[in-house]
Amino acid sequence: MLLSLAALLMGPALQAATPPAPHAMPGEEAVDPYRVDPANVGAAPFTGDGMARAFGGQHGIRRIVDRFVRSNFADPRIGEIFANQDQVRLKRTLFEQFCYILAAGCTYTGRDMRSAHKNMGVQQGDMNRLVENLQRAMTAEKVPFAAQNRFLAKLAPMRGHIVER
Ligand code: HEM
Repeated sequence: MLLSLAALLMGPALQAATPPAPHAMPGEEAVDPYRVDPANVGAAPFTGDGMARAFGGQHGIRRIVDRFVRSNFADPRIGEIFANQDQVRLKRTLFEQFCYILAAGCTYTGRDMRSAHKNMGVQQGDMNRLVENLQRAMTAEKVPFAAQNRFLAKLAPMRGHIVER
C-alpha cells in the first residue's frame, strides 16, 4: 500500500523532472539531446519579404508543411521511411525550417540535416519523390512556379547530408 502510494506520488514527480524541450509542441515524443543552433537549418534565408509573401506568410507555410508531411507519411513509395516517426515534431521543425529560409520570421530549433537523417538509408529516388510531394503541396497552395523553384534550389544542396550512397 505504502509502495503504491509512493509510486502514485513519484510518477508525476518523475515526469516533471524530464520536461520536453521548451520549443516542443504538446504531443511530441522526446528526442536524444542535441545542441539547438539556428545554423542547424542548413541554408541561408532569402532577403526581403518577397518569398514569404509568395508562400502566403506563416499561415501559408503552415498549410504547405502540413500537406507535405501528410503526403510523405501516406506515400506508397517513401511512406515506409516515415512510418513510426514523430509526425507532430516533423510538422513543427519543418515549419520552422521553411519559415526561417523563406524569411517569414521564425527560428529553427531542430537538428542539423546530417543528424536528422542519419542511418535512414535515404536514396536519390526517395529524395526525388519527396521533392515531387513538396511541389504538389506548393502548387495546391498556389505558390507561383518561379518561387517554388527558387525555394527548391535552396534545399537542393542539403542532398549531400541526407542521401546515402
Ligand atoms: C531537402 C530535403 C529535406 C529536408 C529539408 C528535410 C528536413 C527535415 C527536418 C527539418 C527534419 C526534422 C529534424 C528534427 O527532428 O530535429 C527531418 C526529419 C526527417 N526526415 Fe527529412 N528532410 C529532407 C529530405 C528527406 C527525405 C528524402 C526523407 C526520406 C524519404 C526524409 C525523411 C525524414 C524523416 C523520416 C525524418 C524524421 C526523423 C526522426 O524523427 O528521427 N527527409 N527532415
